[in-house]
Amino acid sequence: MYKGIFSFIKHIQPTRRLIKQVNSRPVPRHIAIIMDGNGRWAQKRGLSREMGHRYGSESLKDIIESTSDLGIEYLTVFAFSTENWKRPTKEINALMDLLVDYIDSELDRLKRNNIKMNVLGDLGSFPEKVQQKIYFALDNTKDNTGLKFNIALNYGGRDDILNAVRGLADDIQSGKLAVDDIDKSIFYKYLYTGNMPDPDLLIRTSGEYRLSNFLLYQIAYTELWFSKPSLLWPDFNQRQYLKAILDYQNRQRRFGAIT
Ligand code: IPE
Ligand code: IPE
Ligand code: MG
Repeated sequence: MYKGIFSFIKHIQPTRRLIKQVNSRPVPRHIAIIMDGNGRWAQKRGLSREMGHRYGSESLKDIIESTSDLGIEYLTVFAFSTENWKRPTKEINALMDLLVDYIDSELDRLKRNNIKMNVLGDLGSFPEKVQQKIYFALDNTKDNTGLKFNIALNYGGRDDILNAVRGLADDIQSGKLAVDDIDKSIFYKYLYTGNMPDPDLLIRTSGEYRLSNFLLYQIAYTELWFSKPSLLWPDFNQRQYLKAILDYQNRQRRFGAIT
């Protein structure tokens, strides 16, 4: 019985203490998140998948705030993949509407918190109205110097690499670049992530152990953190986030070397 009580007390370990623990060690510079499980979360509650996405967007607001408070430099979230076009039109439309609502309700907070928004992916196939709203948000946060918040929209890792290769080929063809000039740092510049550091930590909720075409080139040495299946994105909160970061802080990264 005592064991039960102690584990309960441990479970309610105040968030404050977790924050202190995280802050006592170097925090990751760049965190990437695959926000997965909105549909299952809704289904479990007899709600529509669209409602699941709506609740999921609330989690995102809190996570952005925590990321900024922790002084993390980059946050990259997967919001819509190149494969998500395979979903029913109704769901896709709801996701587009949600993007617009998100910017309408959050832009002021992003500005207040000095957060710079950036898009990874090709917005060309998004409805005009949605594109305009996104460009408006990008323009309104472009001079901010705090957290760089990247939202991956119509993003695929393979698309990212192909797009970079096309860009390189163009620049070679036009004489801007010589084949011999291509090295790792040049190649990076052509990716959607440009000069950003690679993610240190990748989080995926909902118990799926796969990358689903996210940041394939950039995560070569990223530490991966997969949640248990019962933790779906709308339930992901600051405490779970802090625990994932703590877990990362206890790992030993070797990058192929020995210690
Ligand atoms: C992730 O949740 C959000 C998007 C892909 C837009 P899902 O919609 O994939 O939720 P599940 O995986 O079906 O539960
Ligand atoms: C990945 O989740 C994409 C996003 C979270 C935006 P999916 O739910 O689309 O991935 P799969 O289909 O389960 O691999
Ligand atoms: Mg999913």
